[in-house]
Amino acid sequence: MSGKDNGRGADAPPGGSSPAPGGSSLTDALREAERILATAGIATPRADAELLAGHLMGLGRAEVRAAEILGRAAPANLMDLVDERARRIPLQHLTGRAPFRGVDLAVGPGVFVPRPETESVAQVAIDEANRLVAAGRQPLVVDLCTGSGAIALAVAAEVPAARVHAVEVDPLAHAWAERNAREHARSPVTLHLADARSALAELDGQVDVVVSNPPYVPPDAVPVDPEVRDHDPRIALYGGGVDGLDVPRGVVLAAARLLAPGGLLVMEHADVQAEAVRRLATASGAFTEVSTRADLGGRDRMVVARRASEVPSTPTDPVTAVDRDVRGCAAPDDPDVAHSPS
Ligand SMILES: C[S@@+](CC[C@H](N)C(=O)[O-])C[C@H]1O[C@@H](n2cnc3c(N)ncnc32)[C@H](O)[C@@H]1O
Repeated sequence: MSGKDNGRGADAPPGGSSPAPGGSSLTDALREAERILATAGIATPRADAELLAGHLMGLGRAEVRAAEILGRAAPANLMDLVDERARRIPLQHLTGRAPFRGVDLAVGPGVFVPRPETESVAQVAIDEANRLVAAGRQPLVVDLCTGSGAIALAVAAEVPAARVHAVEVDPLAHAWAERNAREHARSPVTLHLADARSALAELDGQVDVVVSNPPYVPPDAVPVDPEVRDHDPRIALYGGGVDGLDVPRGVVLAAARLLAPGGLLVMEHADVQAEAVRRLATASGAFTEVSTRADLGGRDRMVVARRASEVPSTPTDPVTAVDRDVRGCAAPDDPDVAHSPS
């Protein structure tokens, strides 16, 4: 049966669902939801079905499974949400929430959905902040390009002694970050609506950790997944310039300005960009110990560098110094870039 002749309208999802029969069991509804989502190309159909049911029932996934065993009925409207998910609306837009490390974030249209891979980036910043706390310091941490506030709020939650600032240029995303900061007011973060490249001049030379997951997708690497291509804001995906690294270059220069000598920069990138990003950090002349680190999946996904104490009087501008090298580093059809950030 085609999407058009199933009586559910031209935009019905592939494998279209039947309306939830009144009183259908949770087990039957989840089985049907899984079938529909698999047909629609969702990579984790069972998990998505359980999470949608859990969202409607106010339960976690383990509790949904327990509810199945107890023979509970499917929640009303489950199939409506399944249909939306089959149209590749992001799961997190349907539930309105995204977990990031221990923080439960509000997300929706207008803000980038935080990715699990970025948790590894946050880990490096948290480890460094904790190291400073153990040495008797109260670390100053800045999250550039904060989006929902994910990294900043995770640092604030996990390193309560840290003072945390977060910068976001897009008013819509900033509004989501404000909402999340209000929801997690016990882990305070100071938010700034500003361009990361010029923000926080008042903190120049004082910051201990600059952490960032900036946009870095090249202009010709259109994301494959509809959830990313059609729902993550363009400003959150595309980094600018032919290589997607204009904003990351600006973040590196901002970190060189903000960090105190010995301060740490950690910034996410696509794995194909590892060498180019190392080169632009090195070319700035402001960093030592420039290295690439892997995420939990073992892929090169972040640059880590320490602010040098001595900086050349005329540091090399990384925009021009490495432009030739990073061009073409991210092939348009590279799957890592096509799905990124994260
Ligand atoms: C890939 S998203 C990451 C969001 C968040 N850090 C996370 O990991 O979920 C990049 C974010 O950077 C913001 N952004 C883009 N250009 C920026 C700039 N020049 N200054 C500050 N924020 C910027 C986007 O609006 C978006 O929210």
